[in-house]
Amino acid sequence: MSFEIIGISSYVPEIVLTNKDLEKIVETSDEWITERTGIKERRMAKEEEVTSDLAAKAANKLFKEINFDPSKLDAIIFATATPDNLIASTACNFQTKIGAKNAFAFDISAACPGFLYGLIIAEGLLKSEKINYVMVVGAETLSRYLDWLDRTTCVLFGDGAGLMLLKKEDKGKNKIISWDLGSDGNLRELLIMPAGGVSFPFSKEALEKRMCYIKMKGREVFKNAVLKMQESAEKVIQMAKIKTSEIDWIIPHQANIRIIEALRERLGIPREKVYVNIEKYGNTSAASIPIALREMVEKNLLKKGNIILLTSFGAGFTWGSVLMEW
Ligand code: ACO
Repeated sequence: MSFEIIGISSYVPEIVLTNKDLEKIVETSDEWITERTGIKERRMAKEEEVTSDLAAKAANKLFKEINFDPSKLDAIIFATATPDNLIASTACNFQTKIGAKNAFAFDISAACPGFLYGLIIAEGLLKSEKINYVMVVGAETLSRYLDWLDRTTCVLFGDGAGLMLLKKEDKGKNKIISWDLGSDGNLRELLIMPAGGVSFPFSKEALEKRMCYIKMKGREVFKNAVLKMQESAEKVIQMAKIKTSEIDWIIPHQANIRIIEALRERLGIPREKVYVNIEKYGNTSAASIPIALREMVEKNLLKKGNIILLTSFGAGFTWGSVLMEW
């Protein structure tokens, strides 16, 4: 089914936290972070900013740019691991902030590949007669879930939002050629925020044991990320019956430059076809792919008819790849 991407937008908070700034917070160094992750700086939301605010700034910017009336939106799919509240959804907060009064809105929790999960759900929704416009959002305020005493995690993540606006269009120029989504809860403990949900509600104990922050076994996550993204990317290439050399761009989740590099090598894709901006934003989870896409549009890197491969991996574990015609 074809559709039209009528807009892509992103927003990152103004506050920049550099590796040098982090040297003053935890025992780390610009050299270690750069070498092990490729990250030089990341953005931090202001104290009063929440996830739906970052997304609303991205959306309102887009509505102005393309002169779009948000009351035309039929559905909002909001991918986030850092919701404004556990109850009610961030999607509804966002909906109100952008004035999308006719849309139904819901969150999805699929961590870093959340945006790709959202895209596939959106494509499905657009097949319904009732749906003409869907917005897919990936937005995170990960800084709130970071343990600023834990140097193995706090240097990796950043805040930001990205989104895509899709319109039903039978003769539309954009198309999902093939996709693959997967998940496996067996290894969920390797990347988890243990407290905050009903299994371990927020409490004095949770705070004292520092359970209300992201915990991660980085090395194991690294290995699984490379393997699952490779398998998933190979699947969508195979399904589409194309050669890897026919892909114009791969836009991987921006978690670690070494993960991206290992994946690139395994897939046999030349470096100049891989879009990387991790140095500026760190890992923004569900926001990372739409932020990258917006940058690519601004730089006029994406041409009509380009074949692009989006691939991601995250907590759950979850993973996914989408092969698209631009
Ligand atoms: N500064 C300085 N030293 C550090 C830091 C830091 N910020 N963090 C860890 N170290 C130390 C460790 O304590 C360890 O010291 P030791 O040898 O004395 O024990 C040493 O550096 C090596 O630690 P490792 O964990 O083995 O380092 P590694 O090369 O695996 O890099 C990293 C760690 C960057 C976390 C890497 O494993 C990684 O990127 N994993 C993927 C995790 C990820 O991106 N998760 C995000 C969600 S999932 C996703 O998006 C893919």
